[in-house]
Amino acid sequence: MKRTIIITGGAGFIGSHVVRLFVNKYPEYHIINVDKLTYAGNLANLKDVEDKPNYTFVHADICDFDTIYALMQRVHVDGIIHLAAESHVDRSIKDPFTFAKTNVMGTLSLLQAAKLYWESLPEGFEGKRFYHISTDEVYGALQMTHPEGIQPPFTTKASSGEHHLAYGEQFFTEDLKYQPHSPYSAAKASSDHFVRAYHDTYGLPTIVTNCSNNYGPYQFPEKLIPLFINNIRHRKPLPVYGKGENVRDWLYVEDHARAIDVIFHRGTIAETYNIGGFNEWKNIDIIRVLIATTDRLLGRPEGADDDLITYVTDRAGHDLRYAIDSSKLQRELGWEPSLQFEEGIEKTVRWYLDNQDWMDNVTSGDYMKYYEDMYKNR
Ligand code: NAD
Ligand code: TYD
Repeated sequence: MKRTIIITGGAGFIGSHVVRLFVNKYPEYHIINVDKLTYAGNLANLKDVEDKPNYTFVHADICDFDTIYALMQRVHVDGIIHLAAESHVDRSIKDPFTFAKTNVMGTLSLLQAAKLYWESLPEGFEGKRFYHISTDEVYGALQMTHPEGIQPPFTTKASSGEHHLAYGEQFFTEDLKYQPHSPYSAAKASSDHFVRAYHDTYGLPTIVTNCSNNYGPYQFPEKLIPLFINNIRHRKPLPVYGKGENVRDWLYVEDHARAIDVIFHRGTIAETYNIGGFNEWKNIDIIRVLIATTDRLLGRPEGADDDLITYVTDRAGHDLRYAIDSSKLQRELGWEPSLQFEEGIEKTVRWYLDNQDWMDNVTSGDYMKYYEDMYKNR
């Protein structure tokens, strides 16, 4: 079936993997990547697909309603996969307005443009789909407790009844109430509410997914994993917030892209799906894996860079633990993560070491100033 799909934020980290997957897997679709190319957007992430006949890049801001509405009419869009956002918690603490503007107003502008355009067609919303990509951070933070005082990690049950190694008894499930703590997660939560409101009020065919922390190639090096790999390579300090005890649930980015493909095509309208791989790690443990893997791949002796670990002032409002329960997605749509974490981390470290040009390109210019400002007071 022919389809025209707008993917917003396709020049960013996750968006570039989604664009690549869709362009290669669906030659009959026309994939239109709409991206403003902020500091986080980089067309070099899409070099391998930029000449494909079913791919078009449109340089635009999702907040610019007139441009977005005209684009939807011009290309006859029938599906939207919305990833464009400001995505880094530390930046949101310094500049919350930009996060509200892009994540809330930008999403609203897309919703309204899609609603107006699709309503103007004879078939209306039939066969259309507005898929909003959100984060597990909207649910807030989970505790690291066990009723009998057992020290984490321990084995516990997710809602599917399956046992998983976890740092606490509770997981994020789709029915949990939203309790965002950072300006980033508050803005994402607000955008999720607008998406649901457009379904409930106007009948717009929407889907929302909330995914855990992603890792893999093409992630901007302000996020933990690429930042630390690059610092280890250059023997720069590794700024660990607080005691490094916070827990995150990590998913390889290509597994997220595959989940988006499955949900875009087979997910139920108006539903929410959580996406994650039951893969919880304490920051400090991940950091040790990153040091060991990077040093091994660079041929450095074991333990050579352990002293780069530098404990710094904690992030304000730092969420203690994230842990996604993705049983619903696994049960209803049969999606499962394909990579074990050890394998994913090895691939990821290797990719950053092999792609120093990409790293040099994205860390030139404004990046160094941001990085120095961010860490000078810690
Ligand atoms: P990213 O910061 O790497 O990329 C964001 C992209 O959006 C960039 O290409 C940027 O240029 C573009 N963009 C920003 N503002 C825009 C605007 N006003 N108009 C058009 N384009 C704009 O982000 P990411 O990590 O790839 O995250 C993508 C989406 O997935 C976000 O919505 C994020 O909330 C969500 N998410 C991310 C993670 C994660 O671990 N990275 C986890 C769960 C959900
Ligand atoms: P990050 O990659 O920013 O993702 P998020 O805040 O969305 O989870 O951070 C992952 C974890 O690593 C988080 O607990 C904060 C911590 N962290 C550090 O300790 N030092 C750093 O320099 C960064 C960027 C993150």
